[in-house]
Amino acid sequence: MEESYAVLMKNITKKFSSTVANYRVDFDLRKGEIHALLGENGAGKTTLMRILYGEIQPDEGEIFVWGKKTVVKSPSHALRLGISMVHQHFRLVDSLTVAEHLALCSSEVRFLSKRKIENLVAEYFKEYYLKVDLDAHIWQLSAGEKQKVEILKALIRGARILVLDEPTSSLTPLEVKDLFRVLHKLRNRGYAIVFISHKLGEVLEISDRITILRKGKKVATIPASEADPVTLAKLMVGDLPSPAKNTHTSPPGGEVLQVKSLYVKNDRGGIAVRGVSFSVRKGEIFGVIGVAGNGQRELAEAIAGLRKPVKGEIFFRGILVNGSGPRELARRGLAYIPEESFKTAVLPELTVAENSILRYYWRFTEKGFIKKTLVEKWAKSLIKEFDILAEGLHVKAKSLSGGNLQKLVIARELSSKPELLVAVNPTAGLDISASQRTREKLLEIKAQGSGVLLFTEDIDEALQICDRIAVIFKGSFKGLFSREEADVNKISLLMAGVDL
Ligand SMILES: Nc1ncnc2c1ncn2[C@@H]1O[C@H](COP(=O)(O)OP(=O)(O)OP(=O)(O)O)[C@@H](O)[C@H]1O
Ligand SMILES: [Mg+2]
Repeated sequence: MEESYAVLMKNITKKFSSTVANYRVDFDLRKGEIHALLGENGAGKTTLMRILYGEIQPDEGEIFVWGKKTVVKSPSHALRLGISMVHQHFRLVDSLTVAEHLALCSSEVRFLSKRKIENLVAEYFKEYYLKVDLDAHIWQLSAGEKQKVEILKALIRGARILVLDEPTSSLTPLEVKDLFRVLHKLRNRGYAIVFISHKLGEVLEISDRITILRKGKKVATIPASEADPVTLAKLMVGDLPSPAKNTHTSPPGGEVLQVKSLYVKNDRGGIAVRGVSFSVRKGEIFGVIGVAGNGQRELAEAIAGLRKPVKGEIFFRGILVNGSGPRELARRGLAYIPEESFKTAVLPELTVAENSILRYYWRFTEKGFIKKTLVEKWAKSLIKEFDILAEGLHVKAKSLSGGNLQKLVIARELSSKPELLVAVNPTAGLDISASQRTREKLLEIKAQGSGVLLFTEDIDEALQICDRIAVIFKGSFKGLFSREEADVNKISLLMAGVDL
């Protein structure tokens, strides 16, 4: 066996009752390489890596770690073998500080002494650009900082093989650049890294080799230097879907949402939204485009009733709703797809059927009781319409792949016949076909008269489906374009903070 292989997985098969998540998959990871894993939602990427990390056992197949045949019994065993995995969902404890977190996972620092922790991480701070504020609480960190803590944790535990499952999904471009700098450095020092992502550009930029999975099977492993986005997309899905087009031209109706001089704070107490005013009409898709972290989340949360504005007014269907909670707004016809909805808008221990009515279960009650048959019928239709990969209606939501869970939230919210839908990056983390279907569905509900407020970081997406587009930068709107006058160059400059 060649020494340069950190990992060899041979003939891996894993079934979950009727689902074949991995079928005879071969995968190898070299020392000093970044190896990307690509594939549609539900293709089996996370499952393959959870097997390597010892979280689940394969039904068949062999694993060699550093040339030695090994049965990876558990994550703690994996850690002893030098394998660590950063999950699609962060698994950090919000109330702890960074230092406390790192102390917990270190075998050297049993008693929390800040000096000891500082010594422990000093090298990583310096060598690997992994600097984070040790005194900050986890809940105060941005997604990029949390990612760094996860990687630090892995390095402190002595990992040499790192698996990152969609690490960039909620990072700002700057944070992605930072992360890539860390990963390059680690690779050059001989670490072996698995990088899972749906973003083809990132995959081509960061990885040395790319393995593509399709419906549980391996399709190919190719050097990144020989790959391009179109080839990769074809390998993942076969034929490419044609893009959705906004052809609906009938004039939009009355205003369903009015926002006037709104100011909203972020979690750290700073002003995130600065005096924003706009309105969304029935039958239109209003796009807010910007680089992540410019106040989009806070603005969306304020409109959805999850964050109280500091100043300004929000009118929903003509009524001032500043103080209304999310439940009342939902009852009045507001649907909401938050950022990374598969983490925050589902209850993982409940079933797919239960999750499918989560925000409007009252519609399925009779004399105070939920009617099971109605719910089942409903859930079935959503699964079919949105092509959600699930073993059945009554499996727990947590058994779905990240992307399929997100599709469930999208299906639930889009199908609620909303007066207004607020969606934050709904297609991030979805594969090409699911992204496309989501855009088509947004156009469909618009044509049916719903207003849509779409937050997106993707210019192509905005140009494809929005009727009007506002650019958000540092909490303010920097420009408002109709679809006809929208111009990629202008929008890009405004997104970067250049005043035109
Ligand atoms: N614990 C489980 N119980 C039942 N089915 C499961 C379980 N874990 C995964 N699956 C199923 O296995 C298949 C592969 O899931 P996996 O999470 O590996 O996909 P993925 O490629 O990571 O997708 P995504 O891009 O959406 O994250 C899916 O159909 C999923 O529903
Ligand atoms: Mg996954």
